[in-house]
Amino acid sequence: MRFRQAIPPGPGLLPEDAYTELGLSERATGKRPYVVCNFVSSVDGKATAGGRTAPLAGVGDKAAFHLLRTQVDAVLAGTGTLEIERYGRPIRDQRLERVRLDEGRAGQPFAVIISRSGQIPPDLPMFADPRSRIILYAPPGAAVPDAPAQIIVHEGDPPPENLAKVLASLRRDHAVKSLLCEGGPTLFSALLAEDLVDELFLTISPVLVGGEELGVTAGASLLSPLALTLVWALEHDGNLLLRYGRC
Ligand SMILES: NC(=O)c1ccc[n+]([C@@H]2O[C@H](COP(=O)([O-])OP(=O)(O)OC[C@H]3O[C@@H](n4cnc5c(N)ncnc54)[C@H](OP(=O)(O)O)[C@@H]3O)[C@@H](O)[C@H]2O)c1
Repeated sequence: MRFRQAIPPGPGLLPEDAYTELGLSERATGKRPYVVCNFVSSVDGKATAGGRTAPLAGVGDKAAFHLLRTQVDAVLAGTGTLEIERYGRPIRDQRLERVRLDEGRAGQPFAVIISRSGQIPPDLPMFADPRSRIILYAPPGAAVPDAPAQIIVHEGDPPPENLAKVLASLRRDHAVKSLLCEGGPTLFSALLAEDLVDELFLTISPVLVGGEELGVTAGASLLSPLALTLVWALEHDGNLLLRYGRC
């Protein structure tokens, strides 16, 4: 598979040439990790079709999704997404683990879970896997699954509702310099509201969904529209793979 390079123009790229050696950790400040988010959307801005992302994700998007996981110290997803998408250990392909190791990262990124309610989906595949490295931010007394995974728990310190403090803890306590947020729309919007997003990788899938499906963002509007700059536009099989930075 090759991606067509629309912006900037070029002869085409293999997915592993586009989505490796991105140097995301090098962009971290001392206060928090560098934060990139990744979404797939329909042409009409929906993040789901029939409540799931799978109908939107083409092979190019799937390749980008998995390669982005090789580029970060930690992967974050909201509890809604973890439950619906049945999250397991982030890296399950040895080839991708090798990419991480070759670029000087641990074979597995941390999987980060943040819950203000303490309602953590107990039966996620990631909990059953001893190679999962999970960092959980939850209120005191949350039911932490008793499972084979390696789970580090922050109970109420920092408060899980304060995302800036949680990100500062990831940087300070766990040396996380780069964080990939894979959604969902509620958690993404909460990060945007606290101005904690540095980049957005967005695939636009060539379908219309319509109806009441979730959009890429959810909840209250941002105080003002957030301007983005287009870093690249790739294309595969009618899918647009866009990378946006901050202006
Ligand atoms: N198209 C895509 O690329 C894509 C990507 C991801 C997900 N999705 C889809 O999106 C859906 C799930 O998204 P969702 O928006 O319902 O849920 P979500 O964003 O995945 O998770 C929301 C949960 O995150 C937790 N959270 C922690 N800190 C928070 C904070 N400061 N503010 C808000 N929430 C915080 C909350 O749990 P507590 O209540 O315990 O605090 C909240 O209920 C699924 O259907 C999934 O398939 C699509």
